[in-house]
Formats: sequence, C-alpha cells, structure tokens
Amino acid sequence: MSEKFKITFRFEDGKTPETIIEARRGDSILDTALDNNINLHHNCGGVCACSTCHVYIDNGMELLPEISDSEENFIDRAVNPKLNSRLACQCEINGNVTVTIPDQSVHLGH
Ligand code: FES
Repeated sequence: MSEKFKITFRFEDGKTPETIIEARRGDSILDTALDNNINLHHNCGGVCACSTCHVYIDNGMELLPEISDSEENFIDRAVNPKLNSRLACQCEINGNVTVTIPDQSVHLGH
C-alpha cells in the first residue's frame, strides 16, 4: 500500500472552506485537486506548458521537487506570482503540504 499524506487546500475565492484531502506519494497537487472535485485550471493538461495551475504553497515547499527553469518561466506569466508560487501539475507529493488556490473565476494567465 502506498504511503498517504495530507494536503490542505485553502481557497482565495472567499467562499470555499479549507479542506483536507488524503493523497498518495507521487501524485501531483493538480491530480489530487481534480480527483476530489476541486476546481483548478490546467489548460495544457499538466505538462508545464501554461500557468493556469498556479498555486501558492503555504507549508511544505521543502517537500516538493525542485522548481525547474521552465516552471519558473511559466510562473512569471501567472497572475500575481509570489515567492511561494508553484505550478500544481509539477508538484509531486512527498509529504504533507498546505496549498492556497487562487480565485479560479479570474483570468489566470497563459
Ligand atoms: S496545467 Fe499547464 S502548467 Fe500545469
């Protein structure tokens, strides 16, 4: 049986309450969100070729894979990138993390 971790999702939309979801090692934050009916854009289908799966990592950044140059480039094009920005499709889960999902009703970049 594969190891399970807790992913805490917070939402910037001001409506959705915080939710905690169990995830398997090696799943991406994007897959975990989508598997649990959490709305997170993913225009390129999760291959690090857009910036619509942009999220903020509030806790556990050190447990995620290192950011690639290409991920960094796409984050630069996201709306309101911050120091704790990541692309959810590039974040394989390897421990407990807390993630804030930007408001999905606004334009989220390219
Ligand atoms: S879904 Fe396009 S970069 Fe993550």
